[in-house]
Amino acid sequence: MPAIATLLPLYDIEKEHVLISEKEYRKRKTRLGRKLKPFSVAVLFSAVQKTRSNDTEYPYRQNSNFYYMSGFKEDSAVLIFVKEAKNFKTYLFVAKKDKTQELWHGKRLGVDKAKELFDVDDIFEFDAFNEKFKKNVVGKHHIYYDFGLDYAKVKLLKRSTKNVLSYENIASYIETMRLIKSKSEIKLIKKAISITKKAHHKAMKRAKKSEYEYQLQADIEYVFRKNGAYSDAYTSIVACGNAANTLHYINNNKKLVQGELILIDAGCEYEYYASDITRTIPVNGGYTKAQTEVYEMVLHVQKEIIAMIKPNVFRSALQKKSEELLCQGMVSLGILNGDVKTLIKEKAHKKYYPHGIGHWMGLDVHDECPYKKLNGNEIPLKPGMVMTIEPGIYLDEEDENIPNKYRGIGIRIEDDILVTKEGCENLSSCIAKEIKEITRKSSSNL
Ligand code: GLY
Ligand code: MN
Ligand code: MN
Repeated sequence: MPAIATLLPLYDIEKEHVLISEKEYRKRKTRLGRKLKPFSVAVLFSAVQKTRSNDTEYPYRQNSNFYYMSGFKEDSAVLIFVKEAKNFKTYLFVAKKDKTQELWHGKRLGVDKAKELFDVDDIFEFDAFNEKFKKNVVGKHHIYYDFGLDYAKVKLLKRSTKNVLSYENIASYIETMRLIKSKSEIKLIKKAISITKKAHHKAMKRAKKSEYEYQLQADIEYVFRKNGAYSDAYTSIVACGNAANTLHYINNNKKLVQGELILIDAGCEYEYYASDITRTIPVNGGYTKAQTEVYEMVLHVQKEIIAMIKPNVFRSALQKKSEELLCQGMVSLGILNGDVKTLIKEKAHKKYYPHGIGHWMGLDVHDECPYKKLNGNEIPLKPGMVMTIEPGIYLDEEDENIPNKYRGIGIRIEDDILVTKEGCENLSSCIAKEIKEITRKSSSNL
């Protein structure tokens, strides 16, 4: 069977062979199949096409768990695992070839082509799913599904099965597998970051010539598309001045104001893999003294936390340390007053640092991998995990408790970090973040 990669390198711009091989998908399916209880069936559905308005649709994006197990990009598809006492088989259901549908919505692989490309035990048309499922579920005691909170689907599943001892959501099994990234996955994440780097650098250079936040957003997303990342990993945040103090600001419609900072949180998705980068840059090339003070403080904390990352460290330890360091930093700048320990105990720092230090990243920007084991214990860092480190300070312009000079400043600095055997690798260290580097880029003409 030819490798899936022979079909999928749609954007192999730099002629890198970075896509996930069929062998790797086989390995994933084997790992999951072995975990299933004897006499069970597991059902994984593709994502549904979502309506934007009336009869227009959002671009289709495959469900991450389904994609992780199958590598199949189309909608109207199901992957099932059918396990007997020990052995299991995998079956894929795909939309049939249909000339009218394809005229409007584009070509489908169809069963025959999918059979050439996907390493499963058999492939059928999607329409045959109900009948095949009912047949395969006879005599099975355990059903696994991944419907999230779609209770209607679970109910339907329960109605079409009999004498079943357990129904279990399989998502957490797959999401636990997704925690440790393979070499190919890391390559794809690096590729996404390399495109995002170009976009952030372009924004740094374009800021002083731009008038509105959305113009910088356009520059950033132009670079994404131009380089083969046809999607953002999340909606870009381009927040000038006080807008940076709205954590999920995505309107991006304000005028850029000379002398203010722009918080840009933007990352592309490349072949399903995310990047998630924040830089806080000046509109007109330079940081004021007050902006520099807050920026250097946040940057110092970010570097300290990254330096802590190595196997067996807990994310909660990174969180705790980031809170201590940011609190200390805010005291030294006079943003908070008092004893650091007491302030932490009273959670005073939370007002200005209200979010987490970072999250898993991979097929999803907030990769849905667990943070705790089933027994409730926290999962320690292991080589192959990828997480963001993104401390931030948000000083609202209306907060009269803050020294005047700092009001209206919002700063976050975010990088994507790979845990390695020896410690960690900052995958996005190639993106300017020292004031000197940013200022140099901002001052160049583009
Ligand atoms: N861009 C989303 C986040 O930083 O978590
Ligand atoms: Mn993030
Ligand atoms: Mn982000």
